[in-house]
Amino acid sequence: MDKTEQTLKIGISTGVVPTWKGDALVIGIYEGGEAQPALSLCGRKVEAEVRKRLTEKWLKGSLGESISFATPHNSGLLVSRIVLLGMGKKESLNAESFRALGGHIHALCDKSGIATCQVLLSLDLHHKPKTHRQRIPVVELLAEGAWLANYRFDQFKSKEAKEAKEAKEAKEERDEHPFKQLVLGVYGERAPQEKKRLQEVEALTRGVALARNLGNQPANRLNPETLAQTARQLAERLPGIKTTVYSEKMLARKGMNGILAVGGGSQTPPCLITMEYRHGGDRPLLAVVGKGITFDSGGISLKPGEGMGDMKFDMCGAAAVFGLLQVVAELDLPINLVGIVPAAENLPSSTAQRPGDIIKMAKGLFVEVINTDAEGRLILADALHHAASFKPAAMIDLATLTGACVVALGTQASGLMGNNDSLRRQLEKAGEASGDRVWSLPLFPEYQEQIKSTVADIKNTGGRDAGAITAACFLSRFVEATQPWAHIDIAGTAFDMNSSRPHMPKGAMGVGVRLLYRFIQAHWL
Ligand code: BES
Ligand code: MN
Ligand code: ZN
Repeated sequence: MDKTEQTLKIGISTGVVPTWKGDALVIGIYEGGEAQPALSLCGRKVEAEVRKRLTEKWLKGSLGESISFATPHNSGLLVSRIVLLGMGKKESLNAESFRALGGHIHALCDKSGIATCQVLLSLDLHHKPKTHRQRIPVVELLAEGAWLANYRFDQFKSKEAKEAKEAKEAKEERDEHPFKQLVLGVYGERAPQEKKRLQEVEALTRGVALARNLGNQPANRLNPETLAQTARQLAERLPGIKTTVYSEKMLARKGMNGILAVGGGSQTPPCLITMEYRHGGDRPLLAVVGKGITFDSGGISLKPGEGMGDMKFDMCGAAAVFGLLQVVAELDLPINLVGIVPAAENLPSSTAQRPGDIIKMAKGLFVEVINTDAEGRLILADALHHAASFKPAAMIDLATLTGACVVALGTQASGLMGNNDSLRRQLEKAGEASGDRVWSLPLFPEYQEQIKSTVADIKNTGGRDAGAITAACFLSRFVEATQPWAHIDIAGTAFDMNSSRPHMPKGAMGVGVRLLYRFIQAHWL
């Protein structure tokens, strides 16, 4: 689970192209057949071969498209192959397309058995196109994309099974990465000073890999207990982190009956995990809360069988908190951060909570449980209340909270709600910069009507309409109005079994880690 070391090496070269030895040289081609100016560094012979293929339209240049050919004899280059890679329309290049390009480079090298490759970057890529508002340099984006693409969840593919599969599917889906080294060749007078920042990107993508690994674990492997164990291991590995786990007994003492009720149906008891990282002196504290339902069957309000297996991903909010803490601690960032994870398994049994139950939450509010499948808000309510006791300057929760959010936004953006407009805008910007995009939904007070209960203070469902919003309304009742708070519904973005983006392999996406890292970078450092 903590196996997140990086097998792909990425470096920057500012040397001379002809002296670089490796398997392949990648040259970017814009849509329409225009080659990147760096082509001129490859010598006459190669340039002529490339131009010939471009005029004969062997490649359109759409994003991710590629052709390759053997390096011509006596070209003066020491690489075996030249790869032309489509970059898409020059005007529409943005941060995300550079990440995708990094992913495509990884995919094509992996597929064609290229172990070492160099990408030629021209300095014009450092001039911001008009539509390119993000400030992340292109070399960082390409590295991020390649490292994100280098992730694979294969710990349960035994060796024999791997070989049998490989024999059957030939080169279609390899279980090992032949691709080992990527060199980002930046040529020109103003060579960038970004070598150090690649280390940052590497740590960031390893944090994403940790979040993906946790998310992808099946529920027979990852339950509240093993999740707490993982938190303890994280603190052992990274001494900057202090982990505390509240067991059932402690939860009862604290009156956290929301967490207890949701976890009550499982043999594995629920818990509340706290991970503290304090390296920011007297700077303000950021609290990040992640939903940690290790399996969501719905409980007594059982879900239909189809697709229920996906509910092993119902702890992806928690996974993001783990990933973020790893990144922050590894980079030794001078900030104060507390990660809080309520963990429970939502199962039906004779000890499970029932529809109609009324529970007294840690904050003192009474909640009528209409539907035991609306469990995320119950555990988060207690966790948010607990988070406030740390007196944070801001609280952000991440949760695979509602199917309604998936209906509203699909897989391309997380739903963002909250009680503080400036915090929300900061997260929107971080979303745009990081690639973990978020989109705001309104939290008008009128929506609160939908969660009024006849027998208790509030109920845990608000009907079909505005389901993502009424879930956030519920959470808002456990946060003081003066406490800046944002809620991010990642139900649609946390996992994707049909992903076709090369830097986002199928399964858990590790969403939230890059979003919160860029948010911290912009506003907490
Ligand atoms: N974990 C689910 C939400 C979910 C759905 C996450 C799809 C990822 C993909 C959540 O606990 C849930 O069951 N929500 C219910 C709430 C309803 C009963 C008010 C839902 O959205 O249907
Ligand atoms: Mn549920
Ligand atoms: Zn759930």
